[in-house]
Amino acid sequence: MKPANSILASSGTSVFEVMSRLAIEHRSINLGQGFPDGNGPEDVRAKAAHFLEDKPNQYPPMLGVPELRQAVAAHAKRFYGLEIDWEREVMVASGATEVLASCLFGLIEPGDEVVLLEPLYDSYLPIVRRAGAVPRLVRLAPPGWELPRDDLAAAFSAKTKLILLNSPMNPAAKLFTREELAFIAELVLRHDAYAVCDEVYEHLAFDGRTHIPLMTFPGMRRRCLKIGSAGKTFALTGWKVGYVTAAPELLQPIAKAHQFITFTTPPNLQRAVAYGLGKDDAYFRSLARELETKRDVFAKGLAEVGFDVLACHGTYFISADFRPLGFNGDDVEFCRHITTEAGVTAIPVSAFYEGAGPDHFVRFAFCKEDEVLRGALERLRRHFRRG
Ligand SMILES: Cc1ncc(COP(=O)(O)O)c(C=O)c1O
Repeated sequence: MKPANSILASSGTSVFEVMSRLAIEHRSINLGQGFPDGNGPEDVRAKAAHFLEDKPNQYPPMLGVPELRQAVAAHAKRFYGLEIDWEREVMVASGATEVLASCLFGLIEPGDEVVLLEPLYDSYLPIVRRAGAVPRLVRLAPPGWELPRDDLAAAFSAKTKLILLNSPMNPAAKLFTREELAFIAELVLRHDAYAVCDEVYEHLAFDGRTHIPLMTFPGMRRRCLKIGSAGKTFALTGWKVGYVTAAPELLQPIAKAHQFITFTTPPNLQRAVAYGLGKDDAYFRSLARELETKRDVFAKGLAEVGFDVLACHGTYFISADFRPLGFNGDDVEFCRHITTEAGVTAIPVSAFYEGAGPDHFVRFAFCKEDEVLRGALERLRRHFRRG
């Protein structure tokens, strides 16, 4: 038989899947996968149910229903002062993951170079490669996750088509600073490149910090593709409703890719998300505040167990160095160990790097009910006290 596509066939089973299976097998508390265990805001779900009955269920417009595209534009104006033409500059697709794929397939020509920052969300590299681009990887490293400016500048060249930037960044829980973003913007301009900005955690910024879209920097309005996700903004990850904002000339090729990948996204979910994006500022503040409280409790508990806990400025995730616990092995071994022996599952940070990465940090998702987090801490406490 002829082989399947080598890029996708060689990617194997992800560590997320391996750890989730192990968690089920050992009845472990799974803090590996990044989804909240609540059910999302009741009013947004009620709107989805209502629209399922009250509005058409046939193919909606390819770019998304007008209500949601208008809401995305209004949201960009409200939070970032961006003036967006909803008819020509907003597209809806099935989750940020599909938006990312559509952006990459729509923009990349075989042989182009794409600059990516490690640690990376797992869909980036396979799609970049499948679109025919050559990835240029730049490493951010724990514990500080500082942007290595010289490495980044060296990764850009005349061949650079785009940079893929994730801020707030998973799993580093980092918000890129104004200075770092200005540096990136300057490189994008100097090399006549684009920036695909994965901003799915835009509302999950803690301690009074605010997310700054790269699109708001001088010269970036026409070069950035700004991506959001209802999954993260409304803690409804199963809905897979994502949206992208970009200048019309950039949006057109992306819309072509979307047309051939999914074409549309369920219309009732789109309308409910439009309602959600119009919620008052208090909703968006409380979303971050609730998670911030969970982060505080969980970070304190991990430190009491003996982990060296890293700073967490946003997202659903917190990472920690397990070396102070005296474990003799790498991060993959540590994650297996705590799943099978303590009954708590995390993800090795090295999984977010290509090739050998930092091997003594693990990532926990803390977007869980308080009693789940308390239970996980109690299990870790008991296990490491005994060990
Ligand atoms: C950085 C990043 N981008 C994109 C996504 C996917 O978003 P969606 O569920 O809207 O496809 C995730 C989900 O975990 C993520 O962490």
